Amino acid sequence: ALSSDVISQGVALADLRRAPTCSGSLPALRPANEHTVMIRTERLDPEEVPVPFPETRSDCWDDYHVKLPCSQDNLFPVDRTTLQSRWDLITRSLSVPFTSSLDVQDAILRYNAGQAKAWSFTALHSYCTDLQGSEAEQMFGKLFPAMAQLAMRAPSLFTQPIPLLSAQRCGSITLSQEQVSCLLANAFFCTFPRRNSRRTEFSNYPDINFNRLFEGSSPSKQQKLKTLLCYFKRITQRRPTGLITYTRQCLQRLPPWSSSEKQFSKLHIRCDGTIEEQGYGMLQVDFANRFVGGGVTGSGLVQEEIRFLINPELIAARLFTEALEDNECLIITGTEQFSRYSGYSHTYRWDGNHDDQTPRDNWQRRVTEVVAIDALHYRNFLQQFLPDNMTRELNKAFCGFARPGVEPENLSAVATGNWGCGAFGGDTRLKAVLQMMAAAEAERDLMYFTFGDADLLRDVHRIHKHFTHHHASVGSVFNMLQQYYERVIKETPRAKPQETLYSFLSEHL
Ligand code: AR6
Repeated sequence: ALSSDVISQGVALADLRRAPTCSGSLPALRPANEHTVMIRTERLDPEEVPVPFPETRSDCWDDYHVKLPCSQDNLFPVDRTTLQSRWDLITRSLSVPFTSSLDVQDAILRYNAGQAKAWSFTALHSYCTDLQGSEAEQMFGKLFPAMAQLAMRAPSLFTQPIPLLSAQRCGSITLSQEQVSCLLANAFFCTFPRRNSRRTEFSNYPDINFNRLFEGSSPSKQQKLKTLLCYFKRITQRRPTGLITYTRQCLQRLPPWSSSEKQFSKLHIRCDGTIEEQGYGMLQVDFANRFVGGGVTGSGLVQEEIRFLINPELIAARLFTEALEDNECLIITGTEQFSRYSGYSHTYRWDGNHDDQTPRDNWQRRVTEVVAIDALHYRNFLQQFLPDNMTRELNKAFCGFARPGVEPENLSAVATGNWGCGAFGGDTRLKAVLQMMAAAEAERDLMYFTFGDADLLRDVHRIHKHFTHHHASVGSVFNMLQQYYERVIKETPRAKPQETLYSFLSEHL
């Protein structure tokens, strides 16, 4: 057969572990030092909407917690001497009937008066103008009011402050899907205070208010709006009952790469399929920005943004996740896929409802585990071979893959692909080797999606076979990468090196 006919290589798919089959037993869900649980944990029932915890509400307005729109400290000046509750203004603005998207714009700008000149609602208006009679009725008569009602339930849904997952601190937050939907409804109506300017205490956090989603005239924006409104329609029609955990993982001790004796783990590589579809039950890599979600509320529309659109509960992470540093990642367990899509980037289209059948674990979370790891953005091809840069990417991938304290047989395979090799300009062949090394070090197998690249499939499979056949250790490959830098890259004045990485590795290892 021609090599271009081969769609998969490596071990059989059935040889790779998936959750929930491979998972160990979970301890009972309980709040702990580094784990904030926003709901009552006794008597969790798969059929019932979780109850917020604690019963009576406490409020907080400090440097360690999310500043909620419903906080009593969310104030605005009416004149030089009087302050008023911004939440009162928000609830009054969102309680008026909406007859057109102009009413939505007016409502949003009433409590964001300072942004009236800066924000544009072109995309929202053209989306709404395109709606047919009954669709428009649905939107203004039902969906927008239901979303506004949901946003206004914040005071009863959040009875304790939400901690910020700030840099260099491990921490987890478990929320109900319903609580997350309320956060997202607030994001849609742009109610989050102190998040509209880069010059606030949140300058190192991603944008959360959806104002940029409403601007511009690109057809992609319409597709993004369709995808997100599909989510809001679903969750306002039927209250979701699951939970979601957001975990910031920071590793203080990183592997001593050059002396690592670890052997390479199993690889299954294929041309077809996607991480989110064929990688069910595996650790699914989000090709992230250090500001998680990247351009999802703006104009971005590649792997990370698409994932955040079809699993919108991922977007809530932007509210409390500070920009990721080199030894950190964000793990999100339990989000649900609400939409299907076709195309990619400028050809992206919303393709209807998705009925997510992923089973739930004992904490009522879908067993969908996504990990956000941000690669470096390379503008120059040779830069990525600098030893410091290779080590940085190894450490970042290792952070995402490693689960300290979990037995290797309980770890699912990692579902990944061309991480850092699209918008971020990395080399697929180098990144594939780096991810293989990180997976080996973390003692996990790898499922690699080449996204249609048949040559890449052949090459990566070959180099992996070479490593395993010769019992190469992670350390020996690491040292060979340094050699490639010293002997080949350093001698390359510009553009691309004469000798490819894989021919160098096959020859010298
Ligand atoms: N499954 C498997 N592979 C995929 C999928 C998928 N669903 N989608 C894309 N690919 P890119 P980056 C392949 O550019 O370079 C965002 O704005 C496809 O070959 O999204 O790490 C983030 O917020 C694609 O070219 O990742 C960051 O700012 C390649 O993966 C930035 O982009 C890389 O996808 C990250 O850019």
